Amino acid sequence: MNIRPALPADVPAIDALLRASFPAPDEATLVQRLCVDGDMVLTMVAEDAGALAGVAVFSRMAVEVARQPVAAVALAPVAVAREWRRQGIAEALVAAGHDMLERGGYALSFVLGDPGYYGRFGYERDWAAGFDSPYAGEHFMALPLQPAGMPCGVRGRADHAAAFAALAQEDAR
Ligand SMILES: CC(C)(COP(=O)(O)OP(=O)(O)OC[C@H]1O[C@@H](n2cnc3c(N)ncnc32)[C@H](O)[C@@H]1OP(=O)(O)O)[C@@H](O)C(=O)NCCC(=O)NCCS
Repeated sequence: MNIRPALPADVPAIDALLRASFPAPDEATLVQRLCVDGDMVLTMVAEDAGALAGVAVFSRMAVEVARQPVAAVALAPVAVAREWRRQGIAEALVAAGHDMLERGGYALSFVLGDPGYYGRFGYERDWAAGFDSPYAGEHFMALPLQPAGMPCGVRGRADHAAAFAALAQEDAR
């Protein structure tokens, strides 16, 4: 299994995998919008003999602590093709993404999801609790990416890319 950043040639397979992995096309649409808006930071893919087995997407967030911008990303979506699940591929994709983002100087990664699942990557509600966000709550978690970390209890603002709000508005209709 080859874990690597996505290439332009992966785009149709990523779209197909997202459409097959979720009950609605929302995640595929989200990724398209993130790309069009220029908010994509990193897409990691897992590929085996030319077949796409998984994808993990990190997009740009606008985050401020004490009115200073902090380089931060949102992890979403993550998907692994059914036949490849429970073999640690999602874990490998996310870990490889975190490594690249750490080297790129990103300080924080946020995720909205099941604490029981994302906790295995180190995401914690406590890290996100001080950030104002429309998604604040028990599913909103964060992970400091730099070795120096970030003190718990830091307060600030954390805004997802516009594509997330566009999706939420469509879902509400
Ligand atoms: C979630 C998903 C990406 C995991 O992929 P994967 O490669 O099988 O994940 P890993 O092998 O790294 O880890 C599998 C573990 O995660 C657990 N897991 C998977 N989905 C979970 C969930 N929603 N909540 C809690 N645990 C979950 C599995 O039970 C398994 O646990 P185990 O290691 O104790 O057996 C995959 O199941 C998937 O694509 N699901 C559909 C899309 C989705 O729901 N994505 C997540 C939200 S963006």
